[in-house]
Amino acid sequence: MAQYSAPRRSGLGPGFWPVTIALTVVNLIVTYVIIVFPFDSFVKVMGEPGGDVDLLFRFMSVIGNAIFVYVAGYLVYFSIVWRRRAGESSDTIGIQIHDNHTLEFWWTAIPAIIVVILAIFSIKIWVDLQRSEGGGVTMEAIGHQYNYEFRYANLKQSVYNDMHLPVNTPITVDVTAADVIHSFWLPEMRLKGDMVPGLIQTLRFTPKTVGKYRIICTEFCGTNHANMAANLYVDSRPDFDKWIAGQAKAQAGSAQPVAFDKGDAAAGASLFTQKCASCHNANGTWNQKIVGPGLGHIMSDSAHPNLVTGEKPNAKDIAYILEHGYDGPDKSMSGAPGPTLGIMPNREANGLTNKMIADLSTYLVAHSSK
Ligand code: CUA
Repeated sequence: MAQYSAPRRSGLGPGFWPVTIALTVVNLIVTYVIIVFPFDSFVKVMGEPGGDVDLLFRFMSVIGNAIFVYVAGYLVYFSIVWRRRAGESSDTIGIQIHDNHTLEFWWTAIPAIIVVILAIFSIKIWVDLQRSEGGGVTMEAIGHQYNYEFRYANLKQSVYNDMHLPVNTPITVDVTAADVIHSFWLPEMRLKGDMVPGLIQTLRFTPKTVGKYRIICTEFCGTNHANMAANLYVDSRPDFDKWIAGQAKAQAGSAQPVAFDKGDAAAGASLFTQKCASCHNANGTWNQKIVGPGLGHIMSDSAHPNLVTGEKPNAKDIAYILEHGYDGPDKSMSGAPGPTLGIMPNREANGLTNKMIADLSTYLVAHSSK
């Protein structure tokens, strides 16, 4: 078997410097692309401190690209130059190199410096995000399966899915969740916070441009996670004040008592699609369970427990459940643990006014196939 002398198995190899120059050229080209690439034309920056977040992302991409280009480039290069040659036994090992102190110094110092720069840069942005500017709007956002609830200081009731904010105003949002972990992502504000039951997190930002933006749940929270999205409307100050006043008026009106069996079935049908269809079946597959039971023959379903009074279901009982939610059959009646039917959220969690409850129960009764 042929023996090779040690020098062929050490050193940088014949093409090291040309390869280094080629990798540097590739690195500089990609770095240039990262620096000039218009990220914000895909997802526009519409708030503070969004620009800083993009700058940090660009900085991390430049460093990450350089590390990838050189590590992957040299890996390929050395694999080719010092590959096993014909005639060498398969367990031949390369020359072992230890104690190259110059090399060890630099491969420790350079990453350490990069990490320190990254830390200073990230902490600066994080502190900016935490700092309260005082004044502005302070509110709460609560994640539910599968919608967002917003509570404003000057509204008695919550608002669902549509979030309105005044432009150029510091916003403080305390986020949490009612059931499982959700997330509150405002891509155009470059802001994201997990919504965790039992934990309140504070997010701060300042919307800078009037418009309609997205709110997206990015934490898998159940079968309808993919549909858990909402809108953020950034309004001018007068428009925002007008919206708050309109909400307050609508809420005052919705507190009036209504007859639960005399709602508007057509309005109920459209509400059902918005509010109920993510958990309860409608239309063709009415009786199939999704998260909650199918409601196709709610008035006569023998498998449907006596939900409220023990009597045949009626519009009032349905309204009662829509109002109070439902937590499985009443175990106190049989004394035995009943089957778990899941948790139907109450009206606060679903954002239902009296009129909505009346419309929904009227619709369900009218469409029950007996
Ligand atoms: Cu809520 Cu995903």
